[in-house]
Amino acid sequence: MLDPTPIMQLTTAYWNAMTFLTANRIGVFEALAKTPMSVSEAADALNTHPRPTRLLLNSCVALGLLEESEGVYTNSALASVFLVPGSPAFMGNAVRYSDDLYATWGKLEQALRENRPPLAQETYLGDDPAKTRHFVYGMHNRALGIGNALVNLVDLSGRKQLLDIGGGPGTYSALFVRRYPELRAKVLDLPHVVELADEIIGSLGAKDRVSTLAGDYHTTKFPTGNDVVLISGVLHRESEKGCRELIGRAKDTLEPGGLLILSDVFTDHGGTGPLFATLFGLNMMLTAPEGGVHADTDVAAWMAEAGFTHIETLPFPSPMPHRVVTGMVG
Ligand SMILES: C[S@@+](CC[C@H](N)C(=O)[O-])C[C@H]1O[C@@H](n2cnc3c(N)ncnc32)[C@H](O)[C@@H]1O
Repeated sequence: MLDPTPIMQLTTAYWNAMTFLTANRIGVFEALAKTPMSVSEAADALNTHPRPTRLLLNSCVALGLLEESEGVYTNSALASVFLVPGSPAFMGNAVRYSDDLYATWGKLEQALRENRPPLAQETYLGDDPAKTRHFVYGMHNRALGIGNALVNLVDLSGRKQLLDIGGGPGTYSALFVRRYPELRAKVLDLPHVVELADEIIGSLGAKDRVSTLAGDYHTTKFPTGNDVVLISGVLHRESEKGCRELIGRAKDTLEPGGLLILSDVFTDHGGTGPLFATLFGLNMMLTAPEGGVHADTDVAAWMAEAGFTHIETLPFPSPMPHRVVTGMVG
């Protein structure tokens, strides 16, 4: 007989997520970073009731997020490194962005029936300041964590001008100019996102070499004179037509010898794996009108049809689910 364990795990997988997301949202890890606490001390600090707080803290222990000894709770190493504000590897904003999408995932059936996202993308791209901040700082946290993987993956020696299309917080641009002293970068993104990008680029001390341009990548004329174009985390918001247009316009803005870097979560050929990439496609379908996920082989083919040469696909180091597809002009 088949083992039903996978079905049982899938049936309750959201229990794990919601316990974690709620603990993060109400500040459990931040509070315990200040001092270890009993249940009643934690309930006082978190403004919660002791009875449910005990259940939540115990579940967090079982999830590996907290440790408990003689009724006193502390953060586990995992929580201390990734979930306490101020830690260099802090991921709490990305966690908050995922938490913001929880209710949207509850509308998956609605999205399937209506073929449109239940969440208006404007909510987290400017209209709701708190959600926009979670999104942009979440991208920044994530980019800080994986950005150096991208910087290590592609060689920009001798390159002078990078255009970062849909560059979000500008973190990748800042990391690239830090690595290559002769490089300058321009981050193009929507106006409300660019406001936060300016803040982040300033905090990284990169303002003198990374500038921003508020605009819409569908309609804004791209600046010319670039020898590198980066399109990271953008293709998953776009249809095949939208991706082909961006790839074509990126080519037009590149000088001969210029390099296009497409970095994203991509599926394998055929689209049925890896698991994270397939679910990520649903996540994007729920949050952007043309959202989904593309296969790296399709993207490479679109680049070839646009006239790029030397096309290469490289995976980020595990456990990062991203891949990069690069190609050159000429
Ligand atoms: C997932 S984020 C990627 C950000 C960054 N490139 C990175 O990899 O961390 C997608 C970005 O595309 C931007 N974006 C979406 N639609 C856009 C549009 N029409 N014009 C300009 N930027 C847009 C969003 O604001 C967001 O910053």
